[in-house]
Amino acid sequence: MTETVPALQARRLCAAYHQQPVLEDITLSLPQGQWTAIVGPNGAGKSSLLNLVIGSLAPLRGELRVLGESPAAQRRAGNIAYMAQQENMEWDFPISVRDTVLTGRYGLMRHDPLWRRLAPRHWADPSHRQAVEAALDAVDMADYAMRPIGELSGGQKKRVMLARALAQQARILLLDEPLAGVDPPSEALILDTLERERRAGRTVIMVTHDMPSARVHADNVLLINRTLVGMGAPDEMLSDAMLARLAVGDRGALSGGERVAA
Ligand SMILES: Nc1ncnc2c1ncn2[C@@H]1O[C@H](COP(=O)(O)OP(=O)(O)OP(=O)(O)O)[C@@H](O)[C@H]1O
Ligand SMILES: [Mg+2]
Repeated sequence: MTETVPALQARRLCAAYHQQPVLEDITLSLPQGQWTAIVGPNGAGKSSLLNLVIGSLAPLRGELRVLGESPAAQRRAGNIAYMAQQENMEWDFPISVRDTVLTGRYGLMRHDPLWRRLAPRHWADPSHRQAVEAALDAVDMADYAMRPIGELSGGQKKRVMLARALAQQARILLLDEPLAGVDPPSEALILDTLERERRAGRTVIMVTHDMPSARVHADNVLLINRTLVGMGAPDEMLSDAMLARLAVGDRGALSGGERVAA
């Protein structure tokens, strides 16, 4: 697969829950290797768009390709790492921080010899252990590796879930509000980590309400309010005029068809 295949390509994409439309007529193309911030008001359909990309929500109409294939195929192939906005996890389950992050590697463990897959986790292939330690370091949670995840604060849990996504070392990182509820030092650390991921050639797609960080770090900003209100460079998209259009879900910015990130 070549670098020229878009990371995401949507054509007239529509999605609904119980026949209630939540996303309508989204046509866009995002190249690989860029950092895209998805911005929009509460209920705009940002998380739903990520759910389409991971294949957990089926399009009502239209088409979505991820790296040129179906979302489900790319998810199975381990090419999409995803951090949910809110984990529906039973935090009281007695699993350590390190083992939680290791679950990010489970898809890749399919390729290990059977004896390794059946062995205790501390005998996992060194590549898995190294990826886990690097991810824990990246979010500054190495000191908490042995702690049960249920004993962490909300912001710390969020950093662990980000580490789980990083540990997968996937080509596309999909992050739903990774900065919400984390303190400023952790936010800086997470943004540095994502910069490194992007420089390593990964595609970073991040839903955020944090305009300053989107302005500084993103290559593209996608404005969503049920439909695509705008897509382009942060300076243009995060102008007062565009944000005003976003608030009312104005589609005028997009008359003329498909948007392709530069
Ligand atoms: N599982 C679901 N079943 C039914 N409706 C849903 C479901 N998930 C989301 N919705 C509805 O779809 C719309 C879009 O929700 P979505 O979570 O995608 O918004 P969002 O842009 O991520 O918002 P936020 O900024 O609050 O996270 C909302 O009106 C929401 O009520
Ligand atoms: Mg959301």
